[in-house]
Amino acid sequence: MSKPSCSVPYIPPLLKDVAQVVRLAATLGKKTAAGGKVDICAAAVKNAAAEGVAMDPKKAAFTLGYLAGARYAMRTQAKPIVCVTGGSGYIAGHVCKILVESGNFSQVRATTRRKSPEKTGFLEEMGVHVFAGCDLMVEGSFLKAFAGCTFVIHCASPFQFRTPGGDAQKGFVDPALKGTLNVLNCAKNCYGSVKRVVLTSSCAAISWGDASKHPDGGKGHVWTEDDWQEDCTLTSSPYRLSKRLAEQAAWKFVGAADVDFDLAVICPAFVLGPVLSPRLDAASVKHMKTLLDGSAQKTMTVTFGTVDVRDVAQAHVNAIGVDLGTRGLKNKLGQARFILSGCVGPLDLTAPLRADAVFSKYPLPAVNVEGAEGTKYSHARAEKFLGIRFRDLKTQMIDGARSLVEYGIVKAAK
Ligand SMILES: NC(=O)c1ccc[n+]([C@@H]2O[C@H](COP(=O)([O-])OP(=O)(O)OC[C@H]3O[C@@H](n4cnc5c(N)ncnc54)[C@H](OP(=O)(O)O)[C@@H]3O)[C@@H](O)[C@H]2O)c1
Repeated sequence: MSKPSCSVPYIPPLLKDVAQVVRLAATLGKKTAAGGKVDICAAAVKNAAAEGVAMDPKKAAFTLGYLAGARYAMRTQAKPIVCVTGGSGYIAGHVCKILVESGNFSQVRATTRRKSPEKTGFLEEMGVHVFAGCDLMVEGSFLKAFAGCTFVIHCASPFQFRTPGGDAQKGFVDPALKGTLNVLNCAKNCYGSVKRVVLTSSCAAISWGDASKHPDGGKGHVWTEDDWQEDCTLTSSPYRLSKRLAEQAAWKFVGAADVDFDLAVICPAFVLGPVLSPRLDAASVKHMKTLLDGSAQKTMTVTFGTVDVRDVAQAHVNAIGVDLGTRGLKNKLGQARFILSGCVGPLDLTAPLRADAVFSKYPLPAVNVEGAEGTKYSHARAEKFLGIRFRDLKTQMIDGARSLVEYGIVKAAK
């Protein structure tokens, strides 16, 4: 398979069954011109039957959707179409912003379960095409959004400090694991148009919940893309479990012979930095808020690393264009994974706020990191192959805090 690049216009090849629908649609075109509204899919299926070809209506619908996407790409100088799942999210919003600003895509799409001015208004203002009704737990619900896409960036997955609904299987594992397989199946069913999927995994799929149980001793171990977290369960760190299971399933999925796209995986540490909307349900946003609004008595012991949301977004976008065959890019298992950890724990997230003339006046919590053992990650691959230059903790926290005030998530101190 030739390697896609976001700077090179790319049109997916028309496959055999697509060519058939083109022919059928051409016949249909003449009939439509004669007058009346026509259900294009039903008519294509009917025409196919007249030619002695049995065509599944669903297949016809999506092939026609694909054609519409492909034609759109041709009309608009053949730049590729990209779709970001969970576009309303904290990280995904920044991914969309960079994709739009790059000018390298004829269309930037984002999926959501439900559109609303608060959640998705900012995307539409940027010029992103938002597709509603895309639910990780509803099979096939991403097909429309992916039709004609060359790239899919799969960010959507629940990340909260508390288990959603108190049910780890339903709240974390099912949407992460079944949801990822649903998204990959939808990408696969786009008749060869999707050439690469970029998946948002996590450092939670890399480092162990209890590092001391790791065979290499844990303490002082520098986690790399060769590491896999193996010690989290439904009752102990289920979010971490969900991320590992989802990523492993994705690697297995793309290993199958009938899958036409490749996979690049982004593994961020805890993400901080500016928000793009007033939405505050993301765990990162909620956490930054508690540090500024007086609701936290003590800081959380951040032993793992942190990374700026803008660096995370840039890494997703750069992963679209990188040649995954580059020597040294993949881990020992031949997987393209990239750790993103800009700062190494233990971290006092409030230190930059205390040192700032404006935010030192906010009701900041007491520090709680003394004696904590930090988790060390290597981000060498992301630096070398994705060209990421990581922002420091001060930039993450100050820009994050300013944006929370700007969007009214935190009240400005008097
Ligand atoms: N934030 C971090 O520190 C961090 C660190 C490492 C990895 N990650 C990963 O990064 C990704 C994005 O996280 P985030 O922090 O940006 O979280 P977020 O703001 O909560 O975004 C997650 C998005 O997922 C979508 N989603 C959740 N459940 C869904 C479902 N059942 N069906 C369809 N969509 C669903 C939501 O979209 P709608 O509500 O619009 O449908 C939501 O916008 C996740 O995969 C997370 O595991 C985050």
